[in-house]
Amino acid sequence: MNTFNIAVIPGDGIGPEVVTEAIRVLDTLSDLSHEFRFQYETFEWSCTYYLKHGKMMPQDGLELLKPFDAIFLGAIGFPTVPDHVSLWGLLLPIRREFDQYVNLRPTQLLPGVVGPLKRFQSGDIDFVIVRENTEGEYSNMGGRLRQGHLEEVVVQNSVFTRYGTERIMRYAFDLARTRRHKLVAATKSNGINFSMPFWDEVFHLVGRDYPDVIQELVHIDALAARCITDPDSLDVVVGTNLFGDILSDIGGAIQGGIGMAPAANLNPTKRYPSMFEPVHGSAPQLTGKKVANPIGQILTAKMMVDFLGLPQAGSIISQAVSRTLSSGIKTADLGGMATTSEVTDHIIQFIRQLWPQEMGVSSD
Ligand code: IPM
Ligand code: MN
Repeated sequence: MNTFNIAVIPGDGIGPEVVTEAIRVLDTLSDLSHEFRFQYETFEWSCTYYLKHGKMMPQDGLELLKPFDAIFLGAIGFPTVPDHVSLWGLLLPIRREFDQYVNLRPTQLLPGVVGPLKRFQSGDIDFVIVRENTEGEYSNMGGRLRQGHLEEVVVQNSVFTRYGTERIMRYAFDLARTRRHKLVAATKSNGINFSMPFWDEVFHLVGRDYPDVIQELVHIDALAARCITDPDSLDVVVGTNLFGDILSDIGGAIQGGIGMAPAANLNPTKRYPSMFEPVHGSAPQLTGKKVANPIGQILTAKMMVDFLGLPQAGSIISQAVSRTLSSGIKTADLGGMATTSEVTDHIIQFIRQLWPQEMGVSSD
C-alpha cells in the first residue's frame, strides 16, 4: 500500500469549502483502492492566521512543507489583508522557494458546459498553458523612493535567466510532443525590447531540438484575441509569468468560468514538493453560500493524482466530472442549481461506478 502524504492549506474564502469537496473525492479513491491512500496534514495558514500572528505562515513554514509528497491549496487572499501582503507571505514564496517553475493550466471545454463562445462545442477547446512560475515579471526586484510624495519613483524589474527560460521552453516542447505537436510562445518583442527578444531567441534555440513540433511566436495582444476567436487552433501555449497568468484567466472564462479551471505548480525534478491549486481565487463574495463550483479544485486534485503517478485514478476523476456535467448537475456559475456538495456527491457516485474491477474494490 502506497501512502501519499499531502500538506493541505485550505486558505481563505471559498478555499476551505472547495478543498473539503476535493478531499472527499480523494478519500473515495483511497477507499476504493488497495494500492494507495492519502494521508493529510492541514495547515491553517491564511489571512485569518495573519490577523492573529502578523504573518501568513510561521517562520519555519517552508521547512514544515518540505517533507510532503504534495501541497494541496485552496485559495489565498481576503479583503482584510492587502493582496500583495498575503500573496507574498505564502503562495509566491512556496512557488519560488520550492522552484515550482512550471505552472500548468489546462483549458478544456467539457461536455455539458455552455461556454461564452457559442461556436465551440465540447472537445473543440483543449489547450494547455505552460506558465513560467518563478521569475519574469514576478521577480520581487525593485523599490519605491519618496513614497507618497509628488516626486515618487517606482521601479519594478523583470528578470529573465537563460536557465529559467530554457527549462520552461523545454517543458512546453516536451508536453507538445505528448499532444498535438503544436507550440505557441506568447511574446511582446515588438514593444519590450530586451527581455522579449531574448525570450524569442531561446524559443528558437530550444525549438531546433523539436523539429517535429510546429512552432509559432505570437504577440500577447494578438494571442489574447486568438484565445477568443480561434481557441481550437491552440494546443500548448508557453508564456512568461505575467502573460501566462492573464491567458489562464481567459482560458478559465472560455471553459465556462474560472471556477472550472485547474492548475498545478510543478517542480518536475521532484526535489521539492509541487503545489496544486486551482486558477480561481478565494471569491470572498461567495463564501459560506454553498454555491462555489468545486470542479476547479477537484480537477486540480486530478492533476495531483496524475503527478503522484496514479494516471488511472486521475482519468476516472475526469470522466466522473464530465458525466456529472453532462447530466446537468452544475453550480450557479454554470447556470445550474446544485450546491457545492451536491456536485461532489454526483462526482463521487460516478467514480464508484467507473472504478474498474481490475483495479480492485475494497470490501466496504
Ligand atoms: C494566479 C493568481 C496569482 C498569480 C495571484 C493571486 C498572485 O492570480 O495564481 O493566477 O498572479 O499568480
Ligand atoms: Mn491569476
